[in-house]
Formats: sequence, C-alpha cells, structure tokens
Amino acid sequence: MSILKGTLSFLGVFHIVCGELSQYSFPDNFQFGVSSSAYQIEGAWNEGGKGVSIWDHSLHSNPDYVLNKSNGDIACDSYHKWKEDIAMLKNLGVQFYRFSISWTRIIPLGYSGSKVNEEGVKYYNDLIDALLAEGIQPFVTIYHWDLPQTLENKGGWLNESIVEDFVYYAKTLFELYGDRVKRWITINEYLQICEYGYSSATLAPFLNLAGVGVYQCSHHALLAHGRVYRLYQNQFKASQKGEVGSVIQAFWCEPKTSSMDDQLAAEHYMQFNFGIYAHPIVYGNYPPIMMERIEALSDKQGFNKSRLPRFTEQQIEMIKGSFDFLGVNHYTTILCSFNDNLPQPSLDSDCGVEISQNSTWKGDSLWWLRHVPWGFRKLLVWIKKTYDNPKVIILEGGWSTDENDLNDVDRVQYYREYLSEMLKAIYEDGCSVIGYAAWSFLDAFEWNSGYTKKFGLIYVDFGSANRTRIPRKSFNEFRNIIRSNRIPNSSVHLEIYLPVFYIILCYLLKLI
Ligand code: NOJ
Repeated sequence: MSILKGTLSFLGVFHIVCGELSQYSFPDNFQFGVSSSAYQIEGAWNEGGKGVSIWDHSLHSNPDYVLNKSNGDIACDSYHKWKEDIAMLKNLGVQFYRFSISWTRIIPLGYSGSKVNEEGVKYYNDLIDALLAEGIQPFVTIYHWDLPQTLENKGGWLNESIVEDFVYYAKTLFELYGDRVKRWITINEYLQICEYGYSSATLAPFLNLAGVGVYQCSHHALLAHGRVYRLYQNQFKASQKGEVGSVIQAFWCEPKTSSMDDQLAAEHYMQFNFGIYAHPIVYGNYPPIMMERIEALSDKQGFNKSRLPRFTEQQIEMIKGSFDFLGVNHYTTILCSFNDNLPQPSLDSDCGVEISQNSTWKGDSLWWLRHVPWGFRKLLVWIKKTYDNPKVIILEGGWSTDENDLNDVDRVQYYREYLSEMLKAIYEDGCSVIGYAAWSFLDAFEWNSGYTKKFGLIYVDFGSANRTRIPRKSFNEFRNIIRSNRIPNSSVHLEIYLPVFYIILCYLLKLI
C-alpha cells in the first residue's frame, strides 16, 4: 500500500509541477523570433568603410569602461559569419530575426546629408535577401545604441539637431530596404540610452549629468521617433505597407511591502521608467505625475524651469499614436519601496522610489535578473489597462549565466515558465501580445559586462579565432516550442514516460 501511495504522490507532484505550465497553444499568426544587435555581434568595427561609433571611440580611448577591458571589435564576427548564422536561424525555425543596422556602416559620418557607404549597404542587402530566401522575416532596429561619434561630438542625444540626422538615416534605410523589410523599430530601450549613457556613466557615451541628461536625451529621442514614424506614414506606408514601432524596456515593479506608500511607489516606478516613453507615444505627452513632480523638485533645487523639457502642441500631435505595435523588452521583476531621501537631482529621486531584489527569487548572474515569471503576466495586464490594450510584441526576454554550460536548464526553465505566463495573459486576461523574441540568438558582447554574461541560445567560443558556435539545450527547447506551437509538457518529454507510469500503476494495483 505504501508503494502505491508513494507512486501516486510522485505522480501527483509530477502533475503539479507540469500542471503549472499553460497548455494553451499559441494563437494563430503568433510569431517567434530571436534578437541581436549590430555592435554586440558584428565585429569588423573598421571594415568595409564603416565609421566610428560611440562604442568604438569610448572603448578604444578608455578600455576600463568594460569588465576585462573587452570590446566589440570582433564580437561574434557576424559581419563575416552571417551565412552560418542564417543556417542556424533556419534550423531554429523562427518566423523573424530581429537585428540592428549599424548607423556608421551606412552613413560613416553620421550627419544628415552626408555620404552613404555602398559596402555597408551591400552587407545588409545580402543579409536581408538571404533571410527572406529562407522564409525568415527581417525585423530591423534602426538604432541600438551605436551612435556615430561625429554626432556625439556635437552633443549626441542632448542636442536637438540629432533629430534631423536620425530622420535622414531612417529615410535612407526605408529607401534602401523598405521594399523587403516590413517591420521597423526606431529606437531600442530609450531609458538605457539616456539614463545609463547620459546620467549615470554606465553605457556609452559615459556621461554623468544626473537628473538632467536623461530627460534631454529622452525628449530628443522621442521627437526623433515621432518624426520617423510620421515620415514612414506619409512617404512610405502606402507603397511599402510595413509597420513602425519602438522598444521600451520594462521590469515589472512589485511593491516591497503591502503599505500604501510602497504600492504608490511601484506605480510611480512604472510611470517614470516605462510611462516616460509609452505615455507620449500613446497619448502624446509625459505622464502627469512626472511633469508635476519634476517641475516642483526642479523649482526647489534652484532650476528656473523643469528639468523635464516640454513638448509643443504640434509635437504632442506628432508623437501621439506614433506606433503600429508597442515593442517591449521584459526580463524580470524588481521590488519598489518609497524613499524621499535619494541623492538629488536624479531620475530616482524624482521618482521617489528605491529598487531592490528579493533574495529568495532565483538568479545570481546579474543583480537585477531574477526568475519571476508571474511578474511578466502582471506587467502585460498593467500595459493592457494603462494603454488601452495596445498590440504588443515582446522583442527581448532571456536569462544570463556566467558559465558556458551547454546544458542550460535554467534558461530552459525561464522560457518555459515566462512563455506560460504570457499565454495566460493572452487567453485569461485578454492581452494582445502577437509575438515573442528571445534575447539572445548568440552569446554576445554584453555592454559593460563584456563577454562575462551569456544570454545565447547558442554558445559562442570567444577564445577561438573562428568564433565557433554550438547550440545549447535552450536552442532545442525553443525550437520545440515553435514547432509544436505550445509549451511541450515537460522538457523530459512526459509523453515518453506516461505509458511506463501506467504499467507500473496497473502492476501495483494488481499486487494489492
Ligand atoms: C537589452 C538590450 O537591448 C540588449 O542590448 C542587452 O544585451 C540586453 N538587454 C541584456 O542586458
């Protein structure tokens, strides 16, 4: 009898473990992809007529910005190995591949009106044609952090003139590739560009204008996005029939305690870190709470106007509704608590929120990255409620490790459980999520962490001249998910074991 009980309880536990995963199929037309970006994978930093970007410049002049003094000079060498990459994408079975175009490969000098580099143009022409030949849609990010250094020399994203330079660059891309590229992302992760690049010196161009740079940069980036969206609508949409959006990074922020203060803090965090971009793109202007708080604090701090710039009425009209889809990068959940005593001026003190992690949530590679799948569902529901259920595409999500491990069970668990929560958000909460891309296709240059943090479905041997690529277990799991259009019951394939359990059970029942 006790053997029977043991077996039944084993099966019960097994069922509960597997049962937590959603058994829904992905909706019709749901699309899977993987993501990458030019500086992180291409290498060939000075080949084929390419100009110098802020990452080339910063890391050549100060290698200490990055752990182990590494840089993206060679990275995964995808500039030369793109055919091999495409063969692997084909094997993975993705419907789209998200990659970014290097601004300085196309327009080496960066400035509006300056020359287009034919070798650079050819590289992306070949890549796009080869993807389409394999039935994979190119999903192109126009700007993924590698600003031409020439533009940084005149202030980069802090100088409003960048809007014209960006419009010229985007127009060049629409003219060159728009006949074949049907989905465009203007800008990837505004907050990371602006807060980490211009206010806390963690990403290029490594400036530290706390509480000021972040807003000037964000303002110009939003104007640049809006202008490019309208440009496409007015001049290209009718003939090219594509879609334009941008990508905002979103942690889900969970109140640290159930106090009213912490609950408000969590909402403030979402508004100051996600709403700062989503609110203008959807409704035309910054979230009211941001405008109020920053204006009041700026006044107290001795500024003669708000550190958060204002949009004109015309700009509000231009930015409002400037999206065909809302691109969201989601990795994790953090804790938020109210704190009115943070160093000023800064985005964090404007927000009045201190963030932390819950040490009981799994994760030890990057301080901010924990395994919290339920937070993903909460985020999607919040987006639905706050922005009137927009069409969302998740354009990054993934798990980092410090080891090269090919048997990456934690990454497998991450995708299984996050995708499961996403399915519940779609079917049970009515969220319009139409695609998901894993970050990342390959291990890559992970910005200030260099090559120490690995996100790839594919391991890359950065020690080998050939940058050898080997698919991990998560590659097979992602492929199984795409092929079966659902989350297979268990990574150990329950269907193989069920008959065995059944025979054991019958045998035990006979014994009693
Ligand atoms: C978001 C960025 O877009 C990407 O470049 C980066 O590697 C991942 N997050 C992981 O940190």
